[in-house]
Amino acid sequence: MLIAAGLHKSFGKGRSKVHVLRGLDLRVKRGEFLAVMGPSGCGKSTLLHVIGLMTSPDAGEVHLDGRRVGSSESERARLRRSHVGFVFQRFNLISVLSARDNAAISLRVRGLQRNGRIDELLTSMGVAHVADRKPGDMSIGEQQRVAVVRALAHEPALLLADEPTGNLDSDNSRSLLELLRDINTRRGQTLVMITHSADAAACADRVVQMKDGLIVDR
Ligand SMILES: Nc1ncnc2c1ncn2[C@@H]1O[C@H](COP(=O)(O)OP(=O)(O)OP(=O)(O)O)[C@@H](O)[C@H]1O
Ligand SMILES: [Mg+2]
Repeated sequence: MLIAAGLHKSFGKGRSKVHVLRGLDLRVKRGEFLAVMGPSGCGKSTLLHVIGLMTSPDAGEVHLDGRRVGSSESERARLRRSHVGFVFQRFNLISVLSARDNAAISLRVRGLQRNGRIDELLTSMGVAHVADRKPGDMSIGEQQRVAVVRALAHEPALLLADEPTGNLDSDNSRSLLELLRDINTRRGQTLVMITHSADAAACADRVVQMKDGLIVDR
């Protein structure tokens, strides 16, 4: 599903230049649930942004769903919109929109109107009861579930999650992890999750460790 080969990424220039990814290789199989762990600042989020086509690498290749991703910004944006879904540590829901409208955002930007599908997903993620509520009137756990619905609405080939339980208490973390595990096993959803939590990583099929911009153990 995903092949990343020889990824390099730096930020800044001259003396303040930080070399974040240093020739990183990673393969994720279709239907796999992979957890990425590693110390703060080792480049986990940067890796997720590169494989999620939000930023381009300075060098190296990304192959997604059997295709080599080119360097053209418009092609990357198109592939990102069709193939990738993101769940963040801060759920980034839009405060003035209802749960249903938040979840439908990724369809709206593609000109699709499929409220039936959104309601079905809200139901299967256990948050149908908040469909008409705004984020301020939902619990933190409900907000993260709605964020998962939003990430899945356009049926992405690859679901990426950056510390999805980072802002959740232990009960909500456990139930979100069960949800992700379920999405992986029942829908065969390929999933890459960054986490600092050993409990979260234990839900994955495979755990890799990242250090200084490289995968050190796979
Ligand atoms: N846009 C940017 N401009 C400059 N430096 C950046 C940028 N993004 C990330 N960095 C730097 O790159 C390094 C890796 O950052 P990254 O966010 O990938 O780490 P991380 O492993 O996700 O850390 P954490 O576990 O704390 O989230 C850090 O030193 C960070 O300061
Ligand atoms: Mg990070």
